[in-house]
Amino acid sequence: MTSLPVFETERLILRAVQQSDAAAYEKHFVDYSVIGELAAKVPWPYPKDGVAQFLQTQIIPRQGNNRWVWGIFLKENLAELIGCVDLWRDGRPENRGFWLGKAFWGNGYMSEAVMPVMDYAFAHLGFERLVFSNAVGNIRSRRVKEKSGARLIGTRPAKFVNPAYTEAETWELTKSEWQARVRGGK
Ligand SMILES: CC(C)(COP(=O)(O)OP(=O)(O)OC[C@H]1O[C@@H](n2cnc3c(N)ncnc32)[C@H](O)[C@@H]1OP(=O)(O)O)[C@@H](O)C(=O)NCCC(=O)NCCS
Repeated sequence: MTSLPVFETERLILRAVQQSDAAAYEKHFVDYSVIGELAAKVPWPYPKDGVAQFLQTQIIPRQGNNRWVWGIFLKENLAELIGCVDLWRDGRPENRGFWLGKAFWGNGYMSEAVMPVMDYAFAHLGFERLVFSNAVGNIRSRRVKEKSGARLIGTRPAKFVNPAYTEAETWELTKSEWQARVRGGK
């Protein structure tokens, strides 16, 4: 396990998710408003103790080994994880996922949280491009991508926990596009 850097933005701290975050993770994640937007491989109803198991078996042992999962914390409450940004090397085709507890939506937190993660992916992890994905109809997630300069490259049939979603849209952002954007101060 390699250690992940801690990121500080205007309002947030991002640091590696730890087993001790399981209770806060469960509190904010196990909610159909959040899980309904995710790929159908995520179980619903979500199993009891599923979060603790997931962190213990899938996340903590792999941190920094072609997978990086940061917990998101408000600066005024560093004890409570309110969401995550998840980055992985192998495109499925996408390389990133994210979620935020519903109580915190609509404040621009995710748009703020993804910035240092993209910077790190391009500047330190050697990514030449990042691919993102969301359900067609998940406007909030789409906006986070649009605002970071990603380009929509297509749609494909896909299954999500919410069966009303039948298609995914795919987005791309290259390292040179990102660098031009950062240099341009956008
Ligand atoms: C997607 C998610 C992370 C967004 O987090 P967030 O912090 O609320 O995002 P932001 O506030 O940074 O941006 C959301 C954007 O959606 C817009 N938005 C919010 N509700 C909207 C609606 N009903 N219709 C249109 N736009 C909407 C916001 O106005 C904002 O755009 P703006 O800055 O141009 O105004 C959060 O909603 C979430 O966790 N959803 C459930 C899980 C999920 O969808 N994960 C991603 C799977 S691909």
